[in-house]
Amino acid sequence: MKFSLVTLTTLCASALAAPTAKKSLKIDFQKQLADSGTTSQDPNQLGGAQGKVPHEVELTNHVVYYLAEVALGTPPQKFQIDIDTGSSDLWVKADGSPGAYSRNSSSTWSHYADNFYIAYGDQTSASGDWATETLGFADAQIPKFIFGEATSATSQPVFGIGYSGIEASIHQPNAFTYDNFPIRLAKEGFVNTPAYSLYLNDFAAKTGSVLFGAVDKSKIDGSLTILPTIKDQTTDSKPKEFLVTLNSIDINVNGTTTNALDKTRHVLLDSGTSLTYLPPQTTRTIAQKFQLLQVSGGWGLTKKQVDALPDTATLDYNLQGAHVGVKVKDLFTLGKNYLNQQLYIEYNGVREPFYQILIADGGDRGPGNDEPVELAKFIFGDSFLRSAYVVYDIGADKIAVSQAKFGSGSAEDLADIQIEDKGGIPAATAASDPVWTQNAPIETSVNYNPQIYRLST
Ligand SMILES: *[C@@H]1O[C@H](CO)[C@@H](O)[C@H](O)[C@H]1NC(C)=O
Ligand SMILES: *[C@@H]1O[C@H](CO)[C@@H](O)[C@H](O)[C@H]1NC(C)=O
Repeated sequence: MKFSLVTLTTLCASALAAPTAKKSLKIDFQKQLADSGTTSQDPNQLGGAQGKVPHEVELTNHVVYYLAEVALGTPPQKFQIDIDTGSSDLWVKADGSPGAYSRNSSSTWSHYADNFYIAYGDQTSASGDWATETLGFADAQIPKFIFGEATSATSQPVFGIGYSGIEASIHQPNAFTYDNFPIRLAKEGFVNTPAYSLYLNDFAAKTGSVLFGAVDKSKIDGSLTILPTIKDQTTDSKPKEFLVTLNSIDINVNGTTTNALDKTRHVLLDSGTSLTYLPPQTTRTIAQKFQLLQVSGGWGLTKKQVDALPDTATLDYNLQGAHVGVKVKDLFTLGKNYLNQQLYIEYNGVREPFYQILIADGGDRGPGNDEPVELAKFIFGDSFLRSAYVVYDIGADKIAVSQAKFGSGSAEDLADIQIEDKGGIPAATAASDPVWTQNAPIETSVNYNPQIYRLST
């Protein structure tokens, strides 16, 4: 569920295959920062709820892309494609433009089906036909892999590695499902089961990694806790998304702890989204605690105020007993408008660079969905995920989470993920907390309504 549209610049070669454990495949991806266009395209932005002020300078949503090298065809044609856990199809441009996939240059292309069409949360889309090709990824070669051959697209190509239950092919006239990448890797014997670990790395790092089939214990701080993924609420069937239970959010600052979540919530772990979308009461509780300045499109602080934040201030997210601490100071990034111009705020008579907090209000019902309030889901994007080590076990409908360990100090320590009957996710214990609970009364700050500042370039 990536939320944006950008022009990618030229990349240096980034994907390095590193065969390590017996049954795993690792690829380092290149992190690329981009901007998403205007906030008006993003239904989840706080600014939308406030109503737009004409001509006001608005914050734009910074997006991180995770670009990995994928090869298609014989001989291989190489592409840098955005790895996305929020969608489940691989597609490339095949419109004759420079760098696009060309079936004419491959001896292994085959037509598979008509009507490839995929639409994303940011209202971009791609269309064409379905084809099969030899796919190369790290050390793996997968024959007759099904992918979208897009003859027209308003999005950059995407490599979706989510549940096959949300494949784009399900919504077309000649509907079908197919074995997408995680499933094919397992069926071809490259890994034991469709599962992978995602390590986004800290904000400053230029690379992260996706490790199919294994867990790298050297990147885990503490231990992994296994959470069930929540089944599809409308059909009561298998999970289709990486939806898990959030039990609490504590704000820790200056030795005090404040509960900031009113009740247990469903959250979607989505590496394609940059911000973390929280219930309105939570956002305002955080805003009040750190005296955030409200602007059109979000919240933030001046540079001086960010520098003055205590290093020890954290948000402690509790997912059924799995605790992930996010340093508050790491949640701020230089505010920019959609033209990528730096934004300033006039505060106490001084013009200062404005730093945006990478947390936003997900609305009463969670972003962009009309489920009953108790089923609302809130999206946890990169500003949460990069502090976590997350194992996505599609085969077992489980997610395992721990605090991520940053730095390159320790050597890789890989352990294969097994099918569930044979041990499942290594070095992990089952969640202890229940799926649904009512929290202690919250110290809410719904009445925190500070003035709205204007930003300037
Ligand atoms: C591929 O080959 C076909 C048949 O020769 C031709 O019609 C088509 O224009 C070619 N496409 C590209 C993208 O070169
Ligand atoms: C934390 O303590 C510092 C130093 O006393 C103070 O300036 C700051 O306002 C406090 N922050 C919060 C959120 O309590």
